[in-house]
Amino acid sequence: MAVAKELAETIIDPKAYSLRDPVDAAFRTIRAQTPLDVATLDDVEPFWVVSRHADIKEIERQPDIFHNGDKSTFLTNMEGNEKVKMLTGGEPNLIRSLVSVDGLEHKNLRGIVFPHVTPRAIRPLEDRIREIARDFVDHMLTFDGECDFAQDVAFLYPLRVIMTVLGVPQEDEAFMLKLTQELFNNADPELNRARAELTPEEALKSLWETTMELENYFAAVTKKFRDNPTDQVNSLIANAKIDGEYLNHRQMMGYYIIAATAGHDTTSNTAAGAMWAMAERPGMLEAMQANPDLINAFVEESIRWEVPVKHFMRSAVSDTEIAGQKIRAGDWLMLSYQSGNRDEAVWDDPFDFRIDRGSSNPQIAFGYGVHVCLGQHLARMEMRILWEELFKRLKSVEMNGQGERTISNFVCGPKHVPVRFTVQ
Ligand code: HEM
Repeated sequence: MAVAKELAETIIDPKAYSLRDPVDAAFRTIRAQTPLDVATLDDVEPFWVVSRHADIKEIERQPDIFHNGDKSTFLTNMEGNEKVKMLTGGEPNLIRSLVSVDGLEHKNLRGIVFPHVTPRAIRPLEDRIREIARDFVDHMLTFDGECDFAQDVAFLYPLRVIMTVLGVPQEDEAFMLKLTQELFNNADPELNRARAELTPEEALKSLWETTMELENYFAAVTKKFRDNPTDQVNSLIANAKIDGEYLNHRQMMGYYIIAATAGHDTTSNTAAGAMWAMAERPGMLEAMQANPDLINAFVEESIRWEVPVKHFMRSAVSDTEIAGQKIRAGDWLMLSYQSGNRDEAVWDDPFDFRIDRGSSNPQIAFGYGVHVCLGQHLARMEMRILWEELFKRLKSVEMNGQGERTISNFVCGPKHVPVRFTVQ
C-alpha cells in the first residue's frame, strides 16, 4: 500500500496546516490505514510518512541508522534540493545546525551548550524570567480588555527570554523576530521576506537572503564575545573549541541561527495556542487559579496540542525494518510530530485539549533521542512562569473573533489570537 495521494497532498500543504483540521483528519486516516507507508507526489522525492508515536520513537532511537544530515531535514521539493546543493557546495541543508549533523560532530556540538540548559543549570534564570514575564503581563493589561495575544504577548515574551539567555541586546530583538519569521514562514505572504506569494524558486532565494543576513549579523557577535567572553550561550558558541579548534564558519553560524530562531518561535506558537485553547474552554482558567499545580499539566498539554514543529525528516543509512515495513538505504522519512501527538493508541480523546492528563504527558513535540530539543526545559519553565504571573492578574478571558494560523508545514502556529479579558 501507499499513502493515498490526496492525503499525502494535504499533509504537505502549508494552507492545510493553517486550517489544521484537514491535516488532523488526513493523519487520522493515515494512522488507521497506512500508518507507515510511502507518499509519492509530483516534484517531491518519495518519502515514508511516519505517523504513529511508537514508530517515531523507534526511528529516533536509532540515530546510527536514521541520519539527519544526509538529506534535507525538512520537506523540500527535488528542484529545491538541487539548488540548495549548488548554494552550499554539495550539502543538503542551507544551514549546518545541530539538527542537520550526525554522529561525533553532533555529539561534540551539542556538548557545548547542553550542560548550560539542564533543569538545574537554568534554575538561576527563574527570577530574571519572572521579571520579564511580569513586564509582558503588565504590557498586556495596558490593552484595556482586548488584545491580540499572539502579536502582543506570545511573540515578544519568549523572544526577550531567549535573547537574554543568548546575549543579544534588546535593541536587536525586532530584527531577530523578523528574520526568524522569514525563515520559518516562507509560504506565508504576511510573514515572509517578500510579503508576497512566492514561486519555489523565489522562496529559496528569499531563504538564502535571510540566512546571509543572519550570518552577517552573527559574524560581529563572534568578535564581540571572543574579545569579552561571558556565560551567555552565544559566547559559549563563539569561544568553543573541538580538538583545539574553534568551530568552523558553517558550524558556528548554524549554531547561532538555530538557537536564536528555534529558541523563541516554537515557544511563542505554543503559548499563543495555549491561550487560544483556554479562551475557548470556560472554567479552565478558574480551575488553574484554584489549583496552580495544574499549570504544569496545562503547559505539557499545550505543547502536545500545538506541536509547533510539525515534522523533521530522516534518511536511512542502511536497509532495516520498522513495524514490519522494509526501509531501504537512502529512503527519506517524515517524522510527523503532529500525527504522533494525536495518536489514539497513546491518548484518550486526542482531539480535545485537556488539563487532566497530568504533567507526565508523553507528548512527542520535543522529539526524542539524541536530537531531542535542547531548549525543552527552558521552554517549559518560561511558559509555566508566564501563566503563573498572568493567571494571578486575569479574572476572565474569551476569544474576541477568529484566531488565525500561519501558512506553513514546518515550524508554525497561531499568528493572531484575539482575546477579550477582564482583570482581578
Ligand atoms: C515549545 C517549544 C519547543 C518545541 C516544541 C521544540 C521542538 C523541537 C524539536 C521537535 C526538535 C528536534 C528533536 C528531534 O529531532 O528529535 C528540537 C530541536 C532543537 N531545539 Fe527545540 N523546541 C522548542 C523550544 C526550544 C528552545 C526554547 C530552544 C533554545 C533554547 C530550542 C533549541 C533547539 C535546538 C538547539 C535543537 C537541536 C537539538 C539537536 O539536534 O541536538 N528549542 N526542538
